[in-house]
Amino acid sequence: MSETAGPMVRSEQVHKSFGRLEVLKGIDLEVAQGEVMCLIGPSGSGKSTFLRCINHLEKIDAGRLWVNGHLVGYRQKGDKLYELRDREVSAQRREIGMVFQRFNLFPHMTALENVMEAPVRVKRTPKARARERAGALLESVGLGDKVRTYPSALSGGQQQRVAIARALAMEPSLMLFDEPTSALDPELVGEVLDVMKRLALDGMTMIVVTHEIGFAREVGDSLVFMDGGVVVEKGVPRDVIADPKHERTRSFLSKVL
Ligand SMILES: Nc1ncnc2c1ncn2[C@@H]1O[C@H](COP(=O)(O)OP(=O)(O)OP(=O)(O)O)[C@@H](O)[C@H]1O
Ligand SMILES: [Mg+2]
Repeated sequence: MSETAGPMVRSEQVHKSFGRLEVLKGIDLEVAQGEVMCLIGPSGSGKSTFLRCINHLEKIDAGRLWVNGHLVGYRQKGDKLYELRDREVSAQRREIGMVFQRFNLFPHMTALENVMEAPVRVKRTPKARARERAGALLESVGLGDKVRTYPSALSGGQQQRVAIARALAMEPSLMLFDEPTSALDPELVGEVLDVMKRLALDGMTMIVVTHEIGFAREVGDSLVFMDGGVVVEKGVPRDVIADPKHERTRSFLSKVL
């Protein structure tokens, strides 16, 4: 997909319900190219649902979402929207890397094979080239010595770093992180945050759902507080954290800080 000058992500009045439960009640957000947006909020506020809408893992009920200038999941002709075919949705999704709380590595593949898999299968990258690139990516997340290791022999932090390398292997223009460190033992959180920080410094556009307020303050360009399916507050992380404008933000922050 071609580069555009506009924002990397634009969300306009995005609504999403599950049955009678309205989970997203009109989300308006923009993420600029190269921006790191951190997303915080109580359990059930719709953070994961919003991320899943961005790569069309969930279909939205109303509103519009664009990634890199492309309408997510639909094509517009005149006033009408037509849902994209599976093949076209997959092509859009390829531009977006996603890292979850659970690492979801293929257990029967080594670290290197995990990172090579999608480029070879989906992009038909020649194996030698994919192997070379996978090696370099594992090196860049500090796992140059673990290329032949299987996930079961890696720590949680190492597995999560392989998962990040695997997402990067598809050369995404946007990375979505959904609580990437919350399943980790506390002593392993730092190594994963360090990799994410480096990625941010390299200019990757990122949306990070996290409870790591320190990371949000240090690495985030913007901080969004969501509650009950709406954006309650958005601003420069340091300002939102030091001086939240809304009582709900204040109360949430006092619990996680
Ligand atoms: N597939 C689904 N079917 C029905 N309800 C769902 C589904 N996915 C999410 N929900 C509901 O939508 C609401 C928002 O869920 P979501 O996972 O987006 O919250 P969250 O902010 O990510 O919370 P957490 O911090 O616990 O991860 C919750 O009430 C959840 O139970
Ligand atoms: Mg969630």
